[in-house]
Amino acid sequence: MSLEVLQGQRALVTGASSGIGEAVAIALGKAGAKVVVNYITGEEEANRIVASIKASGSDAMAIRADVSKEDQVQSMFQQMIETWGSIDILVANAGVQRDADFAEMTLQQWQFVLDVNLTGQFLCCREAVREFIRRGIKPELSRSAGKIICMSSVHEVIPWAGHVNYATSKGGVNMMMQSIAQEMAVKKIRVNSISPGAISTPINTSAWSTPEAEAELLKLIPYQRVGKPDDIARAAVWLASDDSDYVTGISLFVDGGMTLYPGFREGG
Ligand code: BGC
Repeated sequence: MSLEVLQGQRALVTGASSGIGEAVAIALGKAGAKVVVNYITGEEEANRIVASIKASGSDAMAIRADVSKEDQVQSMFQQMIETWGSIDILVANAGVQRDADFAEMTLQQWQFVLDVNLTGQFLCCREAVREFIRRGIKPELSRSAGKIICMSSVHEVIPWAGHVNYATSKGGVNMMMQSIAQEMAVKKIRVNSISPGAISTPINTSAWSTPEAEAELLKLIPYQRVGKPDDIARAAVWLASDDSDYVTGISLFVDGGMTLYPGFREGG
């Protein structure tokens, strides 16, 4: 892959003030894209990430918006389009967990996770698609009219006790992504997901931050290491670039083999 494969393109990464979103925003910037660093909490972190993208030679700006709120999503897109003219790449990444035993799960815990992880992606994807259709293909920038990357999870296929709200939201992301991809391919809009396994970020600190927790986690990862945000960022750059121009409607598992049913290596 050549350097700066995204030269001149404009990207929006939601939930970009930490974790996977942060790494994706920085990698898109290094690949030559201008980047909106969306955040809801963590203004300081968002500004620090903007500064680091600028230092690497690309433009960047932080925009605060709650992805689950239609008016905030619309004004974020409006601000980006007014400033940079359009959008070429959306990474719908913002996501949350509110874990609870199923019998104890409150409606609020259920609703909050569905609102951010699924409705939030719907709202951002819809705004991006509207702009991609309005603008059409600009061959000097990309062979497609626009690229969407939905951040899903191995839990779009692996059921997850104690996390019914989260797993349901990611199952929904998979079907939403494929249905949008099917509808939009004719418009030359590519829509794909990345499904990360266990990546060390603030969302799952308890799963990897002590040696005991890490040893337990590694039992679920055939490749025998916990993932890093950069593992996901590299996949995102590829899916955003013309190097993947014939790829649409896939969920790319970046999980060290977590979805390979490791329990069956010796069992079954
Ligand atoms: C979750 C993490 C979890 C990983 C693997 C991710 O989608 O957000 O908390 O460690 O899946 O189970």
